[in-house]
Amino acid sequence: MAHPLAPQFRRQARNCLPGSPLYAGLLDAMAADLDDGGPTATVMEPYRDDRSASAPPLRLMGALHRMVLQGHAPELALHYPSVGGSASARQAWPAARRLLEAAGTELAGLAGRPVQTNEVGRCAALLGALLVVATRTGLPIRLFEIGASAGLNLNVDRYAYAVDNRLLGQPDSTLRLRSPWRNYPPAELSLPVRLVERAGCDPLPVDPGSTEGRLTLDPQGGTRPRLLRSPEDRRQDLDGSHALPKTTTVRRRLPTTPRRRPSPVDDGSGRTTGGDTSIQRGRLTPRHRHFGPVTARTRRHQA
Ligand SMILES: C[S@@+](CC[C@H](N)C(=O)[O-])C[C@H]1O[C@@H](n2cnc3c(N)ncnc32)[C@H](O)[C@@H]1O
Repeated sequence: MAHPLAPQFRRQARNCLPGSPLYAGLLDAMAADLDDGGPTATVMEPYRDDRSASAPPLRLMGALHRMVLQGHAPELALHYPSVGGSASARQAWPAARRLLEAAGTELAGLAGRPVQTNEVGRCAALLGALLVVATRTGLPIRLFEIGASAGLNLNVDRYAYAVDNRLLGQPDSTLRLRSPWRNYPPAELSLPVRLVERAGCDPLPVDPGSTEGRLTLDPQGGTRPRLLRSPEDRRQDLDGSHALPKTTTVRRRLPTTPRRRPSPVDDGSGRTTGGDTSIQRGRLTPRHRHFGPVTARTRRHQA
């Protein structure tokens, strides 16, 4: 019988190609297993009516990957490159199914946690958008991120970006994003992006320096197909961003809320304001939806 979550799993499987055949294969197999009333259906029973906005398929993939990273799923780990596994992605499902059966209660608990992925690959889009703002306004920028997770994207100007044969951003950064764009943004690329204020908020801020924070950020790796990135690339990026000094603390509320509605050009203060929101847009109040042009530019890279 058709399970209400199965279409979400199938959609997510399609989105995972070509970046992660492992996730695509597992999600497709889980969709069939949901329809068959198998162990995936048992684990996801508390969430069978969850809406796609809360990303149930990613939550379950995160739960599995967390157990792999913790060494609690040695058979499945053989298929996960993030822990050195090299066994065929196509044959991972039997091991995943056995884990869903054996550790159903633990997986059901973990799958209830929200998606906390902090995707530093999105800084590629964000940098392009900020360069456009800098080119058009010539102003320093205040950057606010709603749903910032660990705040790694608030360091957008501290990463290196290899564009053709030049390096933008901070050339000596431990995180280097290669060929960040398919086309050039309509901007002066050599302009420095001057961020005079940066702040992030999140109802569940993640401390990227703690072991728990690393585990929380890692598990959902490999699910950002629109950026065509594999779990291994994401792991490298996370390592690179973690190696940087921690400079921005994500709080539960934005410490500085813009009082004026910012215009795309100038909010009247000699600075311009951008909001980087990933999947948060639907959760924003109308007032915050009027954040500056950065939001519009990054929407194409929503989670
Ligand atoms: C998928 S993560 C994205 C993190 C980061 N923006 C990025 O692009 O890498 C979504 C984040 O939104 C947070 N979140 C969930 N509900 C929220 C809400 N109502 N307001 C603000 N943030 C929320 C979650 O805790 C989570 O850290």
